[in-house]
Amino acid sequence: MSRTIAIYNFKGGVGKTTTTLNLALSWSRSFKVLVIDCDPQANLTHTLTGHINHKSNLYTILKDIIHNRLGKVEPVELSGYLHIIPGDYKMTNLEENSEFISFGNGLFYKLLSPLKQNYDLILLDCPTHFGTVVKSSIANVKSILIPALADSFSTLGFRKLLTYLSEVERDARLNVLGIFFNLYRKNTRHHRMIKDEAAKELGELLLNQTIRQGIKVSEANWSHRSIYSFEEKNEVGDDFMKLSEEVLGRLDAVHLDQLMYKVV
Ligand SMILES: Nc1ncnc2c1ncn2[C@@H]1O[C@H](COP(=O)(O)OP(=O)(O)OP(=O)(O)O)[C@@H](O)[C@H]1O
Ligand SMILES: [Mg+2]
Repeated sequence: MSRTIAIYNFKGGVGKTTTTLNLALSWSRSFKVLVIDCDPQANLTHTLTGHINHKSNLYTILKDIIHNRLGKVEPVELSGYLHIIPGDYKMTNLEENSEFISFGNGLFYKLLSPLKQNYDLILLDCPTHFGTVVKSSIANVKSILIPALADSFSTLGFRKLLTYLSEVERDARLNVLGIFFNLYRKNTRHHRMIKDEAAKELGELLLNQTIRQGIKVSEANWSHRSIYSFEEKNEVGDDFMKLSEEVLGRLDAVHLDQLMYKVV
């Protein structure tokens, strides 16, 4: 049985897509991973597949769900261990479409239920807007991971985010895997101070690992290659690898003996 994780923050540009991408690339070395691109910008789809015109994508699949004609979902296979359900710009239409809105949480329930048996981990790259798509996905995932920027971090904003999340109707408790700082500059006193404050306020919710800014992030995206494929020194890649290990350590209910692909 797989673990489902939404990567979300209602702030834009904090690294949701970059995190989804790099955790998926790291975990797919050992586990069978599906990523679902829920963002109309489809940046994740473009980076991983090289284009954004997939005939079968999240929009067409969700449309089939509401018209009760969903057959077997066949994600795009990027490798044996990494698959994607591509995003589409038409996802913006969903937020104003009354049929979709009335389907509410059932949308992602119907999408995820049959997929869970095929993957160890399912990651959802969420859009910023806290609308139908985000609520429906949050309602149906096991856990949430929250990237944040030290520059714009406030505990008040974070509490507000948790309040929003807790108001989404769910059958089971939402497990917050943690919050971590992306684009973090550990050599600046200001960022260190913010991290210390956040640690006091958030306790265990704050992940230890931070992610520095690194040009390798855009180099990798631009050339559609993995951040882990560089031979030269790649500190931001190391940060993401360590983050993937720390987050994995928090997936306490992942029983390794039940996984489809063994840890190497
Ligand atoms: N650690 C990093 N080092 C360098 N560049 C980064 C890093 N993290 C993110 N970026 C860059 O910052 C930009 C925003 O990142 P990203 O798209 O992952 O954020 P997002 O939260 O998904 O944004 P949106 O709210 O638009 O979906 C991108 O251009 C990405 O390449
Ligand atoms: Mg994004």
